[in-house]
Amino acid sequence: MKVVIIGTNHAGISAANTLLDNYDDIELVMIDRNSNLSYLGCGTALWVGRQIDGYDHLFYTRPEDFEEKGAKILLETAVTDVDYDKQIVYAETKDGEKIEESYDKLIHATGSKPIAPNLPGADLEGMHFLKLFQEGQDVDLALTDPNNETVAVIGAGYIGVEIAEAAQRRGKKVLLFDAAPTSLSNYYDTELTSIMDENLEQHGIETHFGELAEEYIGENGKIVGLKTTKGEYEVDVIINAIGFLPNAPFAKDHLETYDNGAYLVDRTFKTSDDNVYAIGDCATNWSNVTNSPTYIALASNAVRSGIVAGHNIGGTEIEGAGIQGSNGISIFGLNLVSTGLSARLAEKAGFDVKVSDFEDTQFPVFMPKNEKVKIRLVYEAGTNRLLGAQLLSKYDISMAIHMFSLAIQEQLTVDKLQLLDIFFLPHFNQPYNYITMAALQADK
Ligand SMILES: Cc1cc2nc3c(=O)[nH]c(=O)nc-3n(C[C@H](O)[C@H](O)[C@H](O)COP(=O)(O)OP(=O)(O)OC[C@H]3O[C@@H](n4cnc5c(N)ncnc54)[C@H](O)[C@@H]3O)c2cc1C
Ligand SMILES: NC(=O)c1ccc[n+]([C@@H]2O[C@H](COP(=O)([O-])OP(=O)(O)OC[C@H]3O[C@@H](n4cnc5c(N)ncnc54)[C@H](O)[C@@H]3O)[C@@H](O)[C@H]2O)c1
Repeated sequence: MKVVIIGTNHAGISAANTLLDNYDDIELVMIDRNSNLSYLGCGTALWVGRQIDGYDHLFYTRPEDFEEKGAKILLETAVTDVDYDKQIVYAETKDGEKIEESYDKLIHATGSKPIAPNLPGADLEGMHFLKLFQEGQDVDLALTDPNNETVAVIGAGYIGVEIAEAAQRRGKKVLLFDAAPTSLSNYYDTELTSIMDENLEQHGIETHFGELAEEYIGENGKIVGLKTTKGEYEVDVIINAIGFLPNAPFAKDHLETYDNGAYLVDRTFKTSDDNVYAIGDCATNWSNVTNSPTYIALASNAVRSGIVAGHNIGGTEIEGAGIQGSNGISIFGLNLVSTGLSARLAEKAGFDVKVSDFEDTQFPVFMPKNEKVKIRLVYEAGTNRLLGAQLLSKYDISMAIHMFSLAIQEQLTVDKLQLLDIFFLPHFNQPYNYITMAALQADK
């Protein structure tokens, strides 16, 4: 069977490895328009902020790894069209050579693209996005220029907050803007984001929330300022990070799409065409909170969707487990993790929402080092079904979120957590631990 994969980043790579490592009779062609593959964007802020030595280890695989396993891999080759009736993919190399590849099964793994606001001055020098490795290099270069003293970051979501920290660590004055009244509003409620906002300000980041960019001001073709709904600021560099849209240009009239344009897929990541799959950021996934299709752009989801699609194409019928959108962030030593929906977003999704907040220290009082922990459980009134969980601490509380992720996946109620067997050892936690206490506090 001949399989063509369009897009060879995390999702495409995962499907390719699944097919090549588990099935013998696969002729695999991998096509990508970029010159590199497997770039972990999650490391961009760490590298740009000089928290790690460089970017070399942000790539985890090479084209040769796939060639050695028998695949044909075409980089710097952009797919331009797909004929779903004839089952042919059309592409063009950077030298203009036209290529045609037939397929038995096709996988779309073309990822996502940053949202680019159409404001005056959008094409000025000094305007940046952060998606590709090359864009990370451009930002790094901009921060190396001593003439660039002030950086405006637009969007205080995950990319924005992480790159704001990086720019501050590089000695720049940083102004962080978001349309929402807090940072990270797509992931946490204000009870937690207010602590992150304070953390950002304590580390010298000037936050401007509830403020929208209106114009990028330029002089001699270069950014010199930013005009917003609340004021005008002198800035040398602007980094735009207001979210991603799916990059799904080949739906045409043929493939069903979600409301944001992502390829709509079933639990096996198959599109509305039996011979075509779509994985990662270009496709939908299944939400175990709303029990309906959703769109959440994360590398973790991309990898798992590639495994599921790969096995189904290879002949092993499996379904994805669905997702909760589990995520985490660590900024100037403050860690936040969440899964499922925040109370605000659960309400927006139509749930009758209840919350249980609890705050404690991680360890018993007799331990020499300790950290405060804040936990919030979000659940549905009446049924008590868990809809979301959020944790915040300077301690590494990240592992706790996986249990809540599983609980949501399995549609469990908070009651199930109340008497859960949670071990106690002073080195790790407390006998009356915050997970039990938050669950006990919820409605019986
Ligand atoms: C700065 C940053 C930090 C991030 N941090 C995290 C994190 O900490 N945790 C996390 O889970 N996620 C993180 N993400 C999100 C994560 O990177 C994405 O969810 C992930 O890259 C999606 O993988 P993908 O393979 O589906 O798509 P992409 O990574 O977008 O890859 C799509 C590929 O398709 C190729 N392509 C597109 N169109 C064509 C075409 N016409 N022809 C040929 N090739 C094409 C592209 O060149 C690209 O290589 C981060 C993203 C960024 C930008
Ligand atoms: N730690 C991680 O897991 C991690 C890190 C980086 C990126 N990612 C993922 O990559 C994707 C893209 O990240 P992102 O930070 O671009 O998106 P995001 O959704 O995390 O944040 C976008 C932010 O932009 C704001 N915004 C939207 N429109 C705006 C406007 N016109 N003006 C000002 N602010 C506006 C939103 O309120 C939001 O806070 C997300 O899916 C994210 O989860 C994850």
